[in-house]
Amino acid sequence: MKIEVISTNLEDVKADSVVIQLFEGAEAPEIALTLPESIRKEIAPSIEIGGFKAKLGQVLPIYPKSVNMARCFMLLGLGNKQELSLEAVRQAHGYAALKAEEMGSKSMAIPIPNLPPYTAPEITASVLEALSLAFYRFNKYRSKVEDSKHPELIRLVVDFDVRVMCDTAAHEATIVSEAVKLARDIANMPSSDLPPKRMAEMAAEVGRISGFSTKVLEMEELERMGMGGIVSVGKGSSNPPVLIVMEYDGGGETYAVIGKGVVFDSGGISIKPSEKMEEMKYDKSGAAAVIALMKAVAELKLPVRLIGIVPAVENLPSGRALKPGDIVRFRNGKTAEIISTDAEGRLILADALAYASEMRPKAIIDLATLTGACVIALGTHASGLFSNSDELANALINSGERVGERLWRLPLWKEYFEQIKSEVADMKNVGGRPAGAITAAAFLMNFIDNHIPWAHIDIAGTAWTQESSPEKSYIPRGATGIGVRLLADFLKSEVKRG
Ligand code: BES
Ligand code: MN
Ligand code: ZN
Repeated sequence: MKIEVISTNLEDVKADSVVIQLFEGAEAPEIALTLPESIRKEIAPSIEIGGFKAKLGQVLPIYPKSVNMARCFMLLGLGNKQELSLEAVRQAHGYAALKAEEMGSKSMAIPIPNLPPYTAPEITASVLEALSLAFYRFNKYRSKVEDSKHPELIRLVVDFDVRVMCDTAAHEATIVSEAVKLARDIANMPSSDLPPKRMAEMAAEVGRISGFSTKVLEMEELERMGMGGIVSVGKGSSNPPVLIVMEYDGGGETYAVIGKGVVFDSGGISIKPSEKMEEMKYDKSGAAAVIALMKAVAELKLPVRLIGIVPAVENLPSGRALKPGDIVRFRNGKTAEIISTDAEGRLILADALAYASEMRPKAIIDLATLTGACVIALGTHASGLFSNSDELANALINSGERVGERLWRLPLWKEYFEQIKSEVADMKNVGGRPAGAITAAAFLMNFIDNHIPWAHIDIAGTAWTQESSPEKSYIPRGATGIGVRLLADFLKSEVKRG
C-alpha cells in the first residue's frame, strides 16, 4: 500500500474513491470540512434526502455526474460531534476502508479534516492506522486466496502548512501499523509452527532487519541461571523452552518490556476442558506484542534503550511435566507451591521479572494473557492494569485512551496477598476464584524490586476477538495485536516528557 500526503484542491485529486467526512446533525448531516462548491453541489442531494444520517461508521458511496471528478464520493459518518475521539476517527475510517475494498477501489483519497482539539498529524496517524489494520488478513495458511482487492494507493489530502508534519505522522503510523500486523501474525500462528525456538529465530530475524539484537537462553543455561519457573513449565513439552532477550539501544533511559510467550496452553497436568482449547494458541499474544514493539521502536529510532524479554514455553502434560504439589524455585530465590499447572503464565513471568529487575530499568511493563478472571471482570473492552506506581499507571492509562486500547486499573492491596500464602513454600500459584486477576498480579509482584516502577497488563480479554465480541472495523477476527500501539505511544510520550 503506497501512501502519499499531498496538499491539493480536493476537486483535482485523482482517486477511485474520495472520502467526505460528516457529523450527525439535528436536521441534516454537517460536512466536517470545507468543500469546493462543485463537490458540495454533487453531494447535497444525498445529504438532504435523509437516508444518510452520518452515524459513526456509516458509509454512503455516491457517483458524481461530472466526469471530471472522482469516480465515487464516499460519504462517511463520524457520528456525534460532541462525542468525537481519535478512536471514533479510527472506527469510521476503518469502515470506509472496508467499503473501498468491497467496491474494488484501487485508490482512495482522504481529506484530513480540521477536528480540534486533535491536531492534523494526530488525525493523519489515526486514519492511516485504521486503513492499514482494517486490511489485515491472516492468509498464510489458505491455499486459495482471493486476489487482494484493497486499494493500493492512499492519498491523504492535508492543508499546505501542516503537510510536512502530517507526512512524518504518516510515516510513523505506517511503521507502527506494520508492527501491529506482525504481532497479529505471531499470535495467530498455530503453535506447531511456532515452538519456542522458532519464535526466538523469528525475533532474531526481525531484529536483523529492524535493528535490535537478540540473545536466546536455552534449557541448560536457564537451569544454570536458576530460572525454575520457565524450566518447570517448559519441561513437559518436547519443544524445549527458551528465554528471548532483545535489546535496542537508541540512547536514553532503559525500559524493560516482558511478554508472556506460552505458544500453546493446554493447562498441562491440570488440563483444560477441550472446548475452545484451540484458542490457547493466542497465549503467546504478550510475546507477539513485545517482539513487534521492538521492531516498531527500532524503526522509529526512539531515543530510549529498550529491553524486550520473552519467556517462551509450551504448556503440555507428559511424563516429564510439572505436577500439582511440586515446589518451584525462581530466579530471585523465592519458591512457590504448584496448585494448578494451568496457572503457568505467572511462573514463567516470575523469572522474567526477576531477571529484568536485575537490569535496574526505569520501568518494567509486562503484557500477558494471564487470567480468565480478567475476562470475566472487564470483558473485551479493557485490559486489566496493575501497578506499584501511580505515575506509571496514569501514563499508561493516558496512552490507552489516545490509541484506543483502554486500560482499567485494579488494586493490589495487601489483603490479596493472604490468598496466595502456602503451608510449604513462600507462596502458592493459585489464590482461589475470588479476585483471580488480582491474586495473579500479586503473585508477580513478588518478583520485582519495589523501587522499580512496574506495571502488569492482563490482556486475556483483549488479545483476540471471539464471535461474542462485536467486530471493530479495523480489528478483524483473531489476534488483535493489542499492546503494540499502546506501548509505542507510551515510550514516545516518555521521550517527550524527557
Ligand atoms: N492462558 C490462561 C488465561 C486465559 C484464559 C487467557 C482464558 C485467555 C482466556 C492462563 O494460563 C490460565 O490458564 N489461567 C487460569 C488460572 C487459574 C488456574 C488460577 C485461569 O484463568 O483459569
Ligand atoms: Mn494456563
Ligand atoms: Zn496461559
